[in-house]
Amino acid sequence: MLGELALDGRIKGIRGALPTALLARPRRYAGVVLPRENSTEASVVGGGVAVLGVESLRQAYEFFEGLREVVPTTSDISSAFGAAADHDVDFSEVRGREQAKRALEVAAAGGHNVLMSGPPGSGQTMLAKRIPTILPAITFDEAIETTKVHSVLGLLDGRALIATRPFRAPHHTICDAGLIGGGPVPRPGELSLAHHGVLFLDELPEFRKNVLEVLRQPLEHAKITISRVMGTLTFTASVMLIGAMNSCPCGFYTDPQHECSWSPLAIQRVPLAHFGAAARPDRHPYRSADSEVQGADRLKPGRDLVVDSRARQRRAPARSKARASACSSSRSIVSAGTRAPSPGSSNLRAPSSTLTAAGRSRRTT
Ligand SMILES: Nc1ncnc2c1ncn2[C@@H]1O[C@H](COP(=O)(O)OP(=O)(O)OP(=O)(O)O)[C@@H](O)[C@H]1O
Ligand SMILES: [Mg+2]
Repeated sequence: MLGELALDGRIKGIRGALPTALLARPRRYAGVVLPRENSTEASVVGGGVAVLGVESLRQAYEFFEGLREVVPTTSDISSAFGAAADHDVDFSEVRGREQAKRALEVAAAGGHNVLMSGPPGSGQTMLAKRIPTILPAITFDEAIETTKVHSVLGLLDGRALIATRPFRAPHHTICDAGLIGGGPVPRPGELSLAHHGVLFLDELPEFRKNVLEVLRQPLEHAKITISRVMGTLTFTASVMLIGAMNSCPCGFYTDPQHECSWSPLAIQRVPLAHFGAAARPDRHPYRSADSEVQGADRLKPGRDLVVDSRARQRRAPARSKARASACSSSRSIVSAGTRAPSPGSSNLRAPSSTLTAAGRSRRTT
Protein backbone atom coordinates (compact mmCIF):
# COMPACT_ATOMS: atom_id res chain seq x y z
CA MET A 1 0.00 0.00 0.00
CA LEU A 2 1.26 3.46 -0.91
CA GLY A 3 -0.15 6.93 -0.55
CA GLU A 4 -0.30 10.06 1.51
CA LEU A 5 -3.13 10.15 4.02
CA ALA A 6 -4.74 13.58 4.41
CA LEU A 7 -6.36 14.68 7.67
CA ASP A 8 -9.82 14.38 6.10
CA GLY A 9 -9.21 10.74 5.12
CA ARG A 10 -8.39 11.30 1.45
CA ILE A 11 -5.45 9.41 -0.07
CA LYS A 12 -3.36 12.00 -1.89
CA GLY A 13 -1.03 11.30 -4.82
CA ILE A 14 2.65 10.68 -4.21
CA ARG A 15 5.89 10.98 -6.15
CA GLY A 16 7.72 7.84 -7.20
CA ALA A 17 4.64 5.63 -7.41
CA LEU A 18 5.98 3.72 -10.41
CA PRO A 19 9.40 2.69 -9.03
CA THR A 20 7.75 1.76 -5.73
CA ALA A 21 5.01 -0.24 -7.40
CA LEU A 22 7.62 -2.01 -9.55
CA LEU A 23 9.06 -3.53 -6.35
CA ALA A 24 5.89 -5.63 -6.11
CA ARG A 25 6.80 -7.63 -9.21
CA PRO A 26 9.91 -9.50 -7.98
CA ARG A 27 8.18 -10.05 -4.64
CA ARG A 28 5.28 -11.69 -6.48
CA TYR A 29 2.66 -9.53 -4.75
CA ALA A 30 -0.86 -9.97 -6.05
CA GLY A 31 -1.48 -6.24 -6.18
CA VAL A 32 -0.68 -2.71 -5.10
CA VAL A 33 -3.18 -0.33 -3.48
CA LEU A 34 -2.25 3.28 -4.17
CA PRO A 35 -3.76 6.74 -4.71
CA ARG A 36 -6.16 6.90 -7.64
CA GLU A 37 -4.19 9.72 -9.25
CA ASN A 38 -1.09 7.49 -9.42
CA SER A 39 -2.89 4.42 -10.72
CA THR A 40 -2.35 5.25 -14.41
CA GLU A 41 1.42 5.59 -14.10
CA ALA A 42 1.65 2.42 -11.98
CA SER A 43 -0.54 0.44 -14.37
CA VAL A 44 2.48 -0.41 -16.57
CA VAL A 45 3.95 -2.58 -13.79
CA GLY A 46 2.62 -5.81 -15.35
CA GLY A 47 3.83 -9.22 -14.19
CA GLY A 48 0.38 -10.11 -12.84
CA VAL A 49 0.43 -7.30 -10.25
CA ALA A 50 -3.04 -5.70 -9.97
CA VAL A 51 -2.91 -1.90 -9.63
CA LEU A 52 -5.80 -0.73 -7.45
CA GLY A 53 -6.43 2.99 -7.16
CA VAL A 54 -8.37 4.31 -4.16
CA GLU A 55 -9.42 7.85 -3.23
CA SER A 56 -9.86 7.57 0.52
CA LEU A 57 -8.96 5.51 3.55
CA ARG A 58 -12.58 4.42 3.72
CA GLN A 59 -12.40 2.97 0.20
CA ALA A 60 -9.19 1.11 1.10
CA TYR A 61 -10.78 -0.23 4.30
CA GLU A 62 -13.91 -1.37 2.48
CA PHE A 63 -11.78 -3.05 -0.19
CA PHE A 64 -9.80 -5.06 2.34
CA GLU A 65 -12.97 -5.96 4.24
CA GLY A 66 -14.53 -7.28 1.05
CA LEU A 67 -17.27 -4.61 1.10
CA ARG A 68 -16.14 -2.83 -2.07
CA GLU A 69 -14.82 -3.94 -5.39
CA VAL A 70 -11.94 -1.95 -6.90
CA VAL A 71 -11.37 -2.49 -10.60
CA PRO A 72 -7.63 -2.83 -11.41
CA THR A 73 -6.30 0.00 -13.58
CA THR A 74 -4.91 -1.10 -16.93
CA SER A 75 -3.25 0.85 -19.72
CA ASP A 76 -2.93 0.24 -23.42
CA ILE A 77 0.84 0.26 -23.88
CA SER A 78 0.81 -0.10 -27.66
CA SER A 79 -1.52 2.88 -28.11
CA ALA A 80 0.68 4.93 -25.74
CA PHE A 81 3.67 4.17 -27.97
CA GLY A 82 1.66 4.82 -31.13
CA ALA A 83 0.38 8.20 -29.91
CA ALA A 84 3.84 9.26 -28.80
CA ALA A 85 5.44 8.43 -32.13
CA ASP A 86 4.24 11.76 -33.60
CA HIS A 87 6.67 14.62 -32.99
CA ASP A 88 5.82 18.30 -33.40
CA VAL A 89 8.96 18.79 -35.47
CA ASP A 90 10.83 16.54 -37.85
CA PHE A 91 14.40 16.15 -38.99
CA SER A 92 13.29 16.07 -42.62
CA GLU A 93 12.20 19.75 -42.32
CA VAL A 94 15.85 20.87 -42.29
CA ARG A 95 16.84 22.37 -45.64
CA GLY A 96 20.32 21.65 -46.93
CA ARG A 97 23.02 21.36 -44.25
CA GLU A 98 23.99 18.01 -45.71
CA GLN A 99 27.20 17.55 -43.76
CA ALA A 100 25.70 18.62 -40.46
CA LYS A 101 22.74 16.32 -41.00
CA ARG A 102 25.02 13.43 -41.95
CA ALA A 103 27.12 13.98 -38.82
CA LEU A 104 24.00 14.00 -36.65
CA GLU A 105 22.64 10.89 -38.34
CA VAL A 106 25.86 8.99 -37.66
CA ALA A 107 25.97 10.30 -34.09
CA ALA A 108 22.34 9.30 -33.55
CA ALA A 109 23.08 5.82 -34.89
CA GLY A 110 25.89 5.29 -32.40
CA GLY A 111 24.53 7.34 -29.50
CA HIS A 112 27.49 9.72 -29.67
CA ASN A 113 27.70 13.17 -28.18
CA VAL A 114 27.92 16.14 -30.55
CA LEU A 115 29.19 19.69 -30.28
CA MET A 116 27.87 22.04 -32.97
CA SER A 117 29.39 25.41 -33.63
CA GLY A 118 28.49 28.09 -36.13
CA PRO A 119 27.38 31.69 -36.57
CA PRO A 120 24.05 32.92 -35.18
CA GLY A 121 21.06 31.71 -37.17
CA SER A 122 22.89 28.80 -38.76
CA GLY A 123 20.31 26.37 -37.44
CA GLN A 124 22.07 24.65 -34.54
CA THR A 125 19.14 24.88 -32.15
CA MET A 126 16.77 23.84 -34.89
CA LEU A 127 18.88 20.77 -35.73
CA ALA A 128 19.27 19.75 -32.08
CA LYS A 129 15.52 19.86 -31.43
CA ARG A 130 14.97 17.45 -34.29
CA ILE A 131 17.51 14.82 -33.19
CA PRO A 132 14.99 12.80 -31.12
CA THR A 133 12.98 12.29 -34.32
CA ILE A 134 15.80 10.23 -35.87
CA LEU A 135 16.81 8.25 -32.81
CA PRO A 136 15.72 4.63 -32.71
CA ALA A 137 12.28 4.27 -31.13
CA ILE A 138 12.45 3.85 -27.37
CA THR A 139 11.98 0.27 -26.17
CA PHE A 140 9.52 -0.71 -23.46
CA ASP A 141 12.26 -1.37 -20.90
CA GLU A 142 13.94 1.96 -21.70
CA ALA A 143 10.58 3.72 -21.44
CA ILE A 144 10.03 2.20 -17.99
CA GLU A 145 13.48 3.39 -16.82
CA THR A 146 12.87 6.92 -18.11
CA THR A 147 9.35 6.99 -16.70
CA LYS A 148 10.66 6.00 -13.27
CA VAL A 149 12.80 9.16 -13.15
CA HIS A 150 9.87 11.37 -14.19
CA SER A 151 7.67 9.59 -11.64
CA VAL A 152 10.13 10.33 -8.83
CA LEU A 153 9.84 14.04 -9.66
CA GLY A 154 6.07 13.91 -10.17
CA LEU A 155 6.33 15.03 -13.80
CA LEU A 156 4.14 12.43 -15.45
CA ASP A 157 0.95 14.55 -15.54
CA GLY A 158 -1.32 11.52 -15.70
CA ARG A 159 0.66 9.77 -18.46
CA ALA A 160 1.20 6.05 -18.10
CA LEU A 161 4.56 6.02 -19.84
CA ILE A 162 7.18 8.31 -21.38
CA ALA A 163 6.97 6.61 -24.75
CA THR A 164 9.35 8.88 -26.69
CA ARG A 165 13.01 9.58 -26.09
CA PRO A 166 13.12 12.65 -23.87
CA PHE A 167 14.61 15.95 -25.03
CA ARG A 168 15.76 18.18 -22.18
CA ALA A 169 17.19 21.64 -22.81
CA PRO A 170 17.99 23.28 -19.46
CA HIS A 171 18.69 27.01 -19.39
CA HIS A 172 22.32 28.01 -18.97
CA THR A 173 21.63 29.50 -15.53
CA ILE A 174 21.04 25.99 -14.12
CA CYS A 175 23.11 24.98 -11.07
CA ASP A 176 25.09 21.76 -10.79
CA ALA A 177 22.47 20.11 -8.54
CA GLY A 178 19.76 20.97 -11.06
CA LEU A 179 21.79 19.42 -13.85
CA ILE A 180 23.09 16.18 -12.37
CA GLY A 181 20.83 15.90 -9.35
CA GLY A 182 21.30 16.65 -5.67
CA GLY A 183 19.80 18.58 -2.80
CA PRO A 184 19.49 17.70 0.91
CA VAL A 185 17.26 14.77 -0.07
CA PRO A 186 18.83 13.97 -3.45
CA ARG A 187 16.55 14.35 -6.45
CA PRO A 188 17.37 13.48 -10.07
CA GLY A 189 18.51 16.37 -12.26
CA GLU A 190 18.04 17.26 -15.94
CA LEU A 191 20.67 14.69 -16.90
CA SER A 192 18.59 11.86 -15.47
CA LEU A 193 15.36 13.31 -16.88
CA ALA A 194 17.02 12.99 -20.30
CA HIS A 195 17.82 9.30 -19.64
CA HIS A 196 17.69 7.36 -22.94
CA GLY A 197 17.19 10.63 -24.79
CA VAL A 198 18.89 13.92 -25.59
CA LEU A 199 20.36 16.49 -23.20
CA PHE A 200 20.80 19.72 -25.16
CA LEU A 201 23.04 22.45 -23.78
CA ASP A 202 22.33 25.42 -26.02
CA GLU A 203 24.78 28.33 -25.86
CA LEU A 204 27.26 26.04 -24.10
CA PRO A 205 29.79 28.75 -23.19
CA GLU A 206 27.13 30.50 -21.11
CA PHE A 207 26.94 27.57 -18.68
CA ARG A 208 29.06 28.00 -15.58
CA LYS A 209 32.31 26.10 -15.73
CA ASN A 210 31.70 24.14 -12.53
CA VAL A 211 28.31 23.05 -13.88
CA LEU A 212 29.92 21.62 -17.01
CA GLU A 213 32.70 20.00 -15.01
CA VAL A 214 30.27 17.93 -12.95
CA LEU A 215 28.96 16.34 -16.14
CA ARG A 216 32.26 14.67 -16.83
CA GLN A 217 31.98 11.54 -14.69
CA PRO A 218 28.23 10.92 -15.16
CA LEU A 219 28.69 11.10 -18.93
CA GLU A 220 31.41 8.46 -18.80
CA HIS A 221 29.57 6.11 -16.46
CA ALA A 222 26.00 6.79 -17.64
CA LYS A 223 24.93 7.16 -14.00
CA ILE A 224 25.35 9.53 -11.07
CA THR A 225 26.04 8.47 -7.53
CA ILE A 226 25.22 11.00 -4.82
CA SER A 227 26.28 10.37 -1.22
CA ARG A 228 24.63 11.93 1.80
CA VAL A 229 24.62 11.10 5.52
CA MET A 230 21.32 9.27 5.03
CA GLY A 231 22.81 7.04 2.34
CA THR A 232 23.99 6.81 -1.25
CA LEU A 233 21.70 7.15 -4.25
CA THR A 234 22.44 6.26 -7.86
CA PHE A 235 20.48 7.88 -10.69
CA THR A 236 20.55 6.61 -14.25
CA ALA A 237 21.92 9.00 -16.87
CA SER A 238 22.50 7.47 -20.29
CA VAL A 239 22.10 10.41 -22.65
CA MET A 240 23.18 11.76 -25.99
CA LEU A 241 24.71 15.13 -25.10
CA ILE A 242 24.32 17.85 -27.72
CA GLY A 243 26.13 21.14 -27.25
CA ALA A 244 25.66 24.25 -29.40
CA MET A 245 27.84 27.34 -29.43
CA ASN A 246 28.88 30.15 -31.68
CA SER A 247 32.24 29.79 -33.36
CA CYS A 248 33.73 32.65 -31.38
CA PRO A 249 32.59 35.01 -28.60
CA CYS A 250 31.16 37.54 -31.08
CA GLY A 251 29.58 34.73 -33.11
CA PHE A 252 30.74 35.72 -36.58
CA TYR A 253 34.03 33.85 -36.99
CA THR A 254 32.81 31.70 -39.89
CA ASP A 255 30.04 33.97 -41.08
CA PRO A 256 30.66 35.18 -44.65
CA GLN A 257 28.32 38.15 -44.10
CA HIS A 258 29.96 39.63 -40.98
CA GLU A 259 33.45 40.38 -39.79
CA CYS A 260 34.68 38.67 -36.64
CA SER A 261 36.31 40.88 -34.03
CA TRP A 262 38.38 38.07 -32.49
CA SER A 263 41.83 36.85 -33.49
CA PRO A 264 42.09 33.19 -34.57
CA LEU A 265 44.49 32.50 -31.69
CA ALA A 266 42.10 33.89 -29.09
CA ILE A 267 39.26 31.84 -30.57
CA GLN A 268 41.33 28.66 -30.40
CA ARG A 269 41.82 29.22 -26.70
CA VAL A 270 38.16 29.80 -25.95
CA PRO A 271 36.76 26.26 -25.80
CA LEU A 272 39.29 24.65 -23.46
CA ALA A 273 39.89 27.63 -21.24
CA HIS A 274 36.29 28.60 -20.85
CA PHE A 275 34.13 25.55 -21.45
CA GLY A 276 35.80 22.96 -19.26
CA ALA A 277 35.70 19.20 -19.59
CA ALA A 278 32.30 18.84 -21.22
CA ALA A 279 33.53 20.75 -24.29
CA ARG A 280 36.70 18.73 -24.75
CA PRO A 281 36.92 17.39 -28.30
CA ASP A 282 37.40 13.80 -27.11
CA ARG A 283 33.94 13.98 -25.52
CA HIS A 284 32.39 15.06 -28.79
CA PRO A 285 33.69 12.86 -31.58
CA TYR A 286 31.28 14.42 -34.06
CA ARG A 287 31.91 18.10 -34.30
CA SER A 288 29.87 19.82 -36.92
CA ALA A 289 32.49 22.13 -38.34
CA ASP A 290 31.65 25.78 -38.92
CA SER A 291 31.87 25.51 -42.66
CA GLU A 292 29.29 22.75 -42.57
CA VAL A 293 26.49 24.74 -41.03
CA GLN A 294 26.61 27.96 -42.92
CA GLY A 295 26.82 29.73 -46.24
CA ALA A 296 26.24 28.01 -49.53
CA ASP A 297 25.57 24.64 -47.91
CA ARG A 298 22.42 25.99 -46.27
CA LEU A 299 20.15 25.60 -49.24
CA LYS A 300 22.13 23.07 -51.24
CA PRO A 301 19.79 20.33 -52.41
CA GLY A 302 21.01 16.85 -51.62
CA ARG A 303 20.03 13.31 -50.88
CA ASP A 304 18.26 13.20 -47.55
CA LEU A 305 18.98 9.95 -45.73
CA VAL A 306 16.16 10.42 -43.25
CA VAL A 307 13.57 11.02 -45.94
CA ASP A 308 14.97 8.09 -47.94
CA SER A 309 14.88 5.79 -44.95
CA ARG A 310 11.30 6.68 -44.11
CA ALA A 311 10.27 6.06 -47.69
CA ARG A 312 11.92 2.63 -47.42
CA GLN A 313 10.11 1.97 -44.15
CA ARG A 314 6.78 2.88 -45.71
CA ARG A 315 7.43 0.44 -48.53
CA ALA A 316 8.46 -2.33 -46.13
CA PRO A 317 4.95 -3.53 -45.09
CA ALA A 318 4.16 -4.26 -48.73
CA ARG A 319 6.88 -6.89 -48.84
CA SER A 320 6.53 -10.25 -47.23
CA LYS A 321 6.97 -10.28 -43.46
CA ALA A 322 9.86 -12.72 -43.57
CA ARG A 323 11.75 -10.66 -46.10
CA ALA A 324 11.19 -7.46 -44.18
CA SER A 325 12.52 -8.89 -40.94
CA ALA A 326 15.58 -10.38 -42.67
CA CYS A 327 16.25 -7.01 -44.28
CA SER A 328 15.82 -5.23 -40.96
CA SER A 329 18.27 -7.38 -39.03
CA SER A 330 21.00 -6.96 -41.62
CA ARG A 331 20.63 -3.24 -42.26
CA SER A 332 19.33 -1.48 -39.22
CA ILE A 333 21.32 0.70 -36.90
CA VAL A 334 20.30 -1.60 -34.12
CA SER A 335 22.81 -4.19 -35.19
CA ALA A 336 25.68 -1.73 -35.24
CA GLY A 337 24.77 0.91 -32.67
CA THR A 338 25.02 0.56 -28.93
CA ARG A 339 21.49 1.65 -28.15
CA ALA A 340 19.06 -1.22 -27.96
CA PRO A 341 15.83 -0.20 -29.64
CA SER A 342 12.96 -2.62 -29.94
CA PRO A 343 13.15 -5.09 -32.84
CA GLY A 344 12.30 -3.47 -36.14
CA SER A 345 11.67 -0.10 -34.50
CA SER A 346 14.64 1.80 -35.89
CA ASN A 347 13.57 5.07 -37.48
CA LEU A 348 16.74 5.46 -39.44
CA ARG A 349 18.27 3.06 -41.85
CA ALA A 350 21.56 3.60 -43.60
CA PRO A 351 24.32 1.60 -45.27
CA SER A 352 25.80 -0.89 -42.86
CA SER A 353 29.41 0.01 -43.55
CA THR A 354 28.99 3.54 -42.16
CA LEU A 355 26.95 2.43 -39.22
CA THR A 356 29.35 -0.27 -38.16
CA ALA A 357 32.12 2.25 -37.92
CA ALA A 358 29.92 4.61 -35.92
CA GLY A 359 28.68 1.88 -33.64
CA ARG A 360 32.11 0.61 -32.73
CA SER A 361 33.44 3.97 -31.78
CA ARG A 362 30.58 4.24 -29.23
CA ARG A 363 30.05 7.27 -27.03
CA THR A 364 32.66 9.64 -25.77
CA THR A 365 34.93 7.30 -23.99
N1 LIG B 1 18.80 24.65 -42.79
C1 LIG B 1 17.69 25.18 -42.29
N2 LIG B 1 16.48 24.70 -42.63
C2 LIG B 1 15.33 25.23 -42.11
N3 LIG B 1 15.31 26.29 -41.28
C3 LIG B 1 16.49 26.83 -40.91
C4 LIG B 1 17.74 26.32 -41.40
N4 LIG B 1 18.73 27.05 -40.84
C5 LIG B 1 18.14 27.97 -40.05
N5 LIG B 1 16.79 27.82 -40.08
C6 LIG B 1 15.82 28.64 -39.35
O1 LIG B 1 16.49 29.82 -38.98
C7 LIG B 1 16.14 30.24 -37.66
C8 LIG B 1 17.35 30.33 -36.77
O2 LIG B 1 17.85 29.02 -36.49
P1 LIG B 1 18.44 28.63 -35.07
O3 LIG B 1 17.76 29.40 -33.99
O4 LIG B 1 18.39 27.14 -34.97
O5 LIG B 1 19.92 29.13 -35.24
P2 LIG B 1 21.14 28.99 -34.22
O6 LIG B 1 22.28 28.44 -35.00
O7 LIG B 1 20.70 28.24 -33.03
O8 LIG B 1 21.43 30.52 -33.87
P3 LIG B 1 21.93 31.18 -32.52
O9 LIG B 1 23.43 31.03 -32.50
O10 LIG B 1 21.50 32.60 -32.63
O11 LIG B 1 21.27 30.47 -31.39
C9 LIG B 1 15.12 29.22 -37.14
O12 LIG B 1 13.82 29.71 -37.33
C10 LIG B 1 15.37 28.01 -38.01
O13 LIG B 1 14.21 27.27 -38.12
MG1 LIG C 1 20.58 28.69 -31.04
